[in-house]
Order: sequence, then C-alpha cells, then structure tokens
Amino acid sequence: MNYLKVKSTICAILLLCGTASQAQQKKNKNVIAPGAEWKDTNKNRINAHGGGMLYENGVYYWYGEHKIPGRSEADKAGGGAHCYSSTDLYNWKDEGVVLSVDYDNPDSEVAFGCILERPKVVYNESTRKYMMYFKLYPKGMGYKYGYLGVATADSPTGPFTYSHKFLGADSDEGSGDFALVKDADGSLYHFTVRKPDKAFVVGKLNKEYTYPEGKYKVMTEIPAHTEAPAIFAKDGRYFMLGSGSTGWDPNTARAFVATSLLGPYKELGNPTKGVNPHNGMNEEKTFGGQSSYIIKVEGKKDAFIAMFDVWAPEHPFDGRYVWLPIEVESDTLKINWRDEWDLSVFGK
Ligand code: GAL
Repeated sequence: MNYLKVKSTICAILLLCGTASQAQQKKNKNVIAPGAEWKDTNKNRINAHGGGMLYENGVYYWYGEHKIPGRSEADKAGGGAHCYSSTDLYNWKDEGVVLSVDYDNPDSEVAFGCILERPKVVYNESTRKYMMYFKLYPKGMGYKYGYLGVATADSPTGPFTYSHKFLGADSDEGSGDFALVKDADGSLYHFTVRKPDKAFVVGKLNKEYTYPEGKYKVMTEIPAHTEAPAIFAKDGRYFMLGSGSTGWDPNTARAFVATSLLGPYKELGNPTKGVNPHNGMNEEKTFGGQSSYIIKVEGKKDAFIAMFDVWAPEHPFDGRYVWLPIEVESDTLKINWRDEWDLSVFGK
C-alpha cells in the first residue's frame, strides 16, 4: 500500500466510525427537543396533539388528538384520541387510537366529522374506571356548541368506549378548553371557559365523574377569554398556565397562582422567555405554541413540565410539541426556551 492509499483507508475507517457513533448517540440520546420533529419507538411521528398525561405504576400515558394525515382542520382532520406510553418521558411507544371517531355510523355522537379535541384521562378510584374527557362539537355545527365528551375504559390503554356528553358551565352553548383537577379528597373539578361570553368558570363533577354536580362558579379574577388552562400544585400553591383566545394562532401565555385550588388566583403575567428557532417565535407568541397540560415528573422533587402545541391548521398532523421545564420560585414561575434538555435539569 502506498502512503496515499493508507491515508485514505484510515480516513474512511475514521469516517465510518464517526458516522456509526453519531447514529448510536442519536439512538441513545434521551433528550427533549422542543419544537423539533418527535418520533415514537417505531420511528413514526407522534400524533397526539392538545395532549394530557396520566401516570400509573411507573408508566406515563400521553393522550392527544389523532390528526388524520393529509387533512386540514377545515377538512375533518380529527380521528379521535391517540395514546402513547413511556417509562422515561423520552421514548414513546404507540398504543394506538384508543378512542376512534365513528367512520361507519353518521348518527353517532362521535361520527367522523365531529370535532374532538384536547383529550384528558383521569382515573376514578371509586368506580375503578379510566375516564376520558374531550371537547366535543357535534358534526356539521362548527364550534357552536361546546360539549364535554366522556368515554370510559378499564385500562389506561383502552379501548375507550364513548359514553355521553354534557354542555357544562351552566350554559346552553357549553364550554371550551378545560383542565380537570383532582383534589386531595378525590373531588374532580372542571375548569373551563364558558360559551358564549368566555367567562372563566369552575364546576365540580359528581362522585362518578360523569356529570357536573351543582352550579359552576365564575372566577372573576381570571380574565375572560382565558383558554388552554393547565394547573399544577406545589407546596400549598396552585399554579395555572393559560393562553388568550385567538383560535389556532398563537398569543401570549398567562400564569396565575392561588393558595386554594378554587382561588382566588393572582395574575403573574407571561412566564415564558426565549425564541423557538424552528419558527422564530418568541415569548410574545408563546414560542408559536399554546398550553395543553402540565406534567408532574414522578420521582423528582418539584419537577414539572409545561406542554404546548404548535398548531398547524392547514396540515395538523405536522403540528409540533413544545415541552419545557417549569422553574418555580416561591410565588412565581418561569418557562425559558431550551433547544434541547433532559430531566437532569431537575436535579436528582
Ligand atoms: C383554540 C383551542 C383549540 C382549538 C382552536 C380552534 O383556542 O385551544 O383547542 O379549539 O382554538 O380554533
């Protein structure tokens, strides 16, 4: 072998090793990359928009809107609720569409063409049922009547069976974006924005978690038109994250704090800061996203993750997820942009 040949062989070997180790690194890299494409363990794009989380026996279950590829929001993109599971919050296994819209029966309340959004699952200890709730707008009526749809299952991965719907918020036009929070005594509260006046309200559900019980309370301290609520509790404080009301277009995030779940809440302003390099949007527009849920990281002290959706109404299947750690300092919270991060940000 002459000198040149040796040199090029060494280069080729080094290059190969380099590529292999890079691929390996990518495979083993447990990171969250907000706003980047996110694939499941089958290498398919995760399809769980407007999502929420349930944790049980070491497993996180991520439920979100299943968007039919190739369809726009205006053209019936909603396919039901899709579930993924993970033990580490980085690697997600596809558990399938656990509540499907009904493609066969046009008279079904969840017939293909209805709007089914923001699914959230809560476990009812007394009935031992997994209860799924979602915004449900009957087919052919746009966003006029905002129901809360209810489906039930015997296991977190379903399949969920559609049960019924109710308007909620003591309004005959119903309600919109919502958060469901279980209090220490097992009571389940429905925080939502009332239609049509967009007042922010809270109501308690019955013991079975199937219907509201009693009247909703108007939370006058929370500005009307607050949408996308997500609530978490820490050290006797309740924090709520939300957005303004501009449909699929992003607006500025808002946060609130209270010493009791039902308020009164104090406004904290916009907790976000930074720029999402994927779309160039900063804190004025919540990185191009809208809040959907706050994950409590199990086994870590005071570790919470804010989940946002970057909607893509023309091709919603391509909508991106922005997950960022929440930094809580006594009565305030901060959500700073990070290109890439992992759970070590929360310490041991
Ligand atoms: C948003 C809401 C979404 C979706 C959208 C429709 O404000 O958070 O879930 O309903 O409006 O325009």
